[in-house]
Amino acid sequence: MSKFYITTAIHYVNDDPHIGHMYENVVADVIARHRRRMGDDVWFLTGADEHGQKIERAAAKEGIQPIELADRVVAKHHEMWRKLNISHDDFIRTTEQRHRLGVLELIRRIQERMPDDIYLGEHTGWYCQNEETFVPENQVRDGKDESGHPVEMTTESNYFFKLSRFTEPLLAHYRQNPGFVYPPTRMNEIVSFVEQGLKDLSVSRTSIKWGIPFPGNPDHVVYVWLDALTNYISALGFGSAEHARFDHDWPADIHLVGKDITRFHAVYWPAFLMAAGLPLPKRIVGHGWWLRDNQKISKSLGNVVRPYNIIDEFGADSLRYFLLREMVFGQDQNYSDEAFLGRYNADLANDLGNTLSRTTKMTDTYFGGKTPPTSCPANELLRASEQLVPEYLKAMADLAFQRALDAAWKLLVAVNGYIVNREPWKKFKESGADETLSRILWNTLEAQRIVWVMMAPFMPSTTREALTRLGADPDFINSDALAWGGLPTGAPVRATDAIFPRIDIDAYIKGVPVEEKNEVPAAPAPAAPETPAPSLATPPDSAKISIDQFMEIDLRVAEVRAAERVPKSKKLMKMTVSTGDEERTIVAGIATKYTPEELVGRKIVIVANLQPAKLMGIESNGMVLAASIDGEPSLLSVDAGVPAGTKVK
Ligand code: ME8
Ligand code: MG
Repeated sequence: MSKFYITTAIHYVNDDPHIGHMYENVVADVIARHRRRMGDDVWFLTGADEHGQKIERAAAKEGIQPIELADRVVAKHHEMWRKLNISHDDFIRTTEQRHRLGVLELIRRIQERMPDDIYLGEHTGWYCQNEETFVPENQVRDGKDESGHPVEMTTESNYFFKLSRFTEPLLAHYRQNPGFVYPPTRMNEIVSFVEQGLKDLSVSRTSIKWGIPFPGNPDHVVYVWLDALTNYISALGFGSAEHARFDHDWPADIHLVGKDITRFHAVYWPAFLMAAGLPLPKRIVGHGWWLRDNQKISKSLGNVVRPYNIIDEFGADSLRYFLLREMVFGQDQNYSDEAFLGRYNADLANDLGNTLSRTTKMTDTYFGGKTPPTSCPANELLRASEQLVPEYLKAMADLAFQRALDAAWKLLVAVNGYIVNREPWKKFKESGADETLSRILWNTLEAQRIVWVMMAPFMPSTTREALTRLGADPDFINSDALAWGGLPTGAPVRATDAIFPRIDIDAYIKGVPVEEKNEVPAAPAPAAPETPAPSLATPPDSAKISIDQFMEIDLRVAEVRAAERVPKSKKLMKMTVSTGDEERTIVAGIATKYTPEELVGRKIVIVANLQPAKLMGIESNGMVLAASIDGEPSLLSVDAGVPAGTKVK
């Protein structure tokens, strides 16, 4: 069993948790849950950053003590993590005694090893109060830092940390550990920052009272970043009498942080640790930002989005899913309620929910509410799962959550295709609940069981519910559970209400009360039979296609990233389009009407699961939807706000 220590950043308590905080904790939770079920000995830490000017000021504004503000906000953080089902093992507050001891011990060790590494000096420069840091001259424009926060010319007499001494050791560490910062783009940014040479860092403040008194000089408090970063070891007992956890769990396997603070973690923190003679964390993982109107969502920008009502109305799991499904890990992503609602209906209510209802209802009807009596050791769904589970595990290991979810979805799509091909309702009508039908239905339930085990880290409570409905053991979600064959025969299946009731999006957006919304009839979905229902038991009208046949066509929104005319062709345009997490080439006969310039940046609709075809020697992967007026194409398009990758139906 290998130990796995993961941390999030500790969040400032000047405000209630917002979507950036939620995202970070959900990502860490998904990783922690995944590692736990794969058998690792996981320690997952989150917490609150309570010192510094931001909090001092926010409290002063309300006329209360900083600790009162911190207590109140920390209570809200706890409440949020409980609601979101965050499975952290510990929560550190920087106002705790154990933390103070850790900070003092870190400083003591630095001073003991190399007395000159911390010295008293004077510093003048651009100071950003919001970020509590001096900002390099070249990052200041019109009195603001790169994030638009005001900076002030400030002089302070401070203790300094000899960061300059660590330029070479840090670069050497990056060279020897190219995966130290992830994703690689962020590693490159860090390397070029350090290559410019590091300046010494002031690590104390006299302008602030709300902090840990600097050892030997109580006029100073410890600089908030030196204070805050130490949480990762103070929480393990570093500096306290009880330090068994530190001995066992340090160094951290992952520090998960936003890209704005990657530098503090990838430059300052390892330098402090080197100076103290302590091992460095293995990996700093920098995630992207949730944006609104293309700006980072944060309290200081006044554009906070708190999807609190989404959690209350549609459950934590649906938000957890959305956050991980929507964001290409490492990149920025715009947040909108509409995108959430769209994904909820398409992916959760329809794909996951309807498949579950149909199959459990058929099982209920044909096999008296028990998983079918005969299991099946060889079939196409088994083969699909044997291919997709490793894909999923690889993606999870790469923190490519979209790809992981995609693999689960491929299996789900296979289940639906299998149902359409096998037509269990027809078989039932022809020869009743025989062994063939038993195998067919067992396969659909078993493949879904595996899909849900894949979903477990993302949607922990819904997974338990779904597994129970499928007749599977809700506690069986370890690595063995990803192998084919785990579903018992003759176990009770529960076919009941929709696991993700559909949302009437228009009504929701217009602000119709929740009670009313739930009464809105479900959209025409492939309803499963209560009794052997006529809709499924009767052979489909051959002139019309069933909804299942339509659902086999994977229509997606795509964004054109690049376009060029195919040489020697009047009609053909070669495009690189993005469906959110992947790019593909599509060749389409639209060059008579559109120029490459008009196309780039445009959102279009494509058939995403078409077999590749070669056009003028170029492999085209998918088809672009367009209306044709006397041979002249007119592209189908969607509103600009619809994210690439969204399903169309
Ligand atoms: O930076 N999208 O605290 P914090 C995604 N106390 N992530 C976001 C975000 C957004 N819009 N806004 C914030 C601090 N975050 C320090 C950390 S660690 C020793 C000290 C992320 O409350 C942000 O990048 O401002 C950071 O990782 C975390 O939320 C806490 O941000
Ligand atoms: Mg911040």
